[in-house]
Amino acid sequence: MRKPIIAGNWKMNKTPAEAAALVNELKPLVADAQCDVVVCVPAVDIAAAVDAAAGSNIKVGAQNVHWAKSGAYTGELSADMLVAAGVEYVVIGHSERRQYFGETDRTVNQRVLAAVNAGLKAILCVGEMKEVREAGATDGLVDFQTIMALNGLTAEQVQDVIIAYEPVWAIGTGLTATDEQANETIGVIRKAIARKYGQECADKVRIQYGGSMNPKNVKGLMAQPEIDGGLIGGASLKAADFSLVVNYDK
Ligand code: PGA
Repeated sequence: MRKPIIAGNWKMNKTPAEAAALVNELKPLVADAQCDVVVCVPAVDIAAAVDAAAGSNIKVGAQNVHWAKSGAYTGELSADMLVAAGVEYVVIGHSERRQYFGETDRTVNQRVLAAVNAGLKAILCVGEMKEVREAGATDGLVDFQTIMALNGLTAEQVQDVIIAYEPVWAIGTGLTATDEQANETIGVIRKAIARKYGQECADKVRIQYGGSMNPKNVKGLMAQPEIDGGLIGGASLKAADFSLVVNYDK
């Protein structure tokens, strides 16, 4: 009943010309996808990606958004700017932003509120570091990150947020959570949403897995009942790989 959603996170890769080329290459390969298909691109690639994706089933996302409407925030982009540029989705709270750029649960929450109120679909990232999993504190952490990030949204708004569960130790490392680990922790996230926003809302929220997801492991992960899609880094940079992930059910 939840439509799967597979999103590429290009991170800091591709020039505008390369972005257009990749989207053009992807279009025929994912045209029959049963899931929602999104590419989250660097800000300078948005215009090229939106142009190339026009008329196709590929939607374009950004990789961050600021919470203010406008103002003295050098280097940042507002939600209204992204909407005006043709963006429909935005990644918020990626672990790389949290680790390297001082993103906190509070700023993640501010960004989520701004994005949702502007009509963007937020892809909210949560997930634990290796030490947290080893200490047995994963469930408490992802529960906390989820509740804090969504604070201030109505249940109706929460239904449209996409959550990406990304164990930090699995990102870019080639290590993947086992199908069961990913399913179990995503179940914990869904329970947290049910506790605060009700079961009906929790049943509608799409929760992706992210962390070294690729053409080889996608089928096993997607067969898990709690997993509604993927946020794909490395394997989203080549049309052949990304389209195999998108077409995992073929
Ligand atoms: P990866 O990245 O697929 O390269 O591990 C996933 C992500 O960071 O979203």
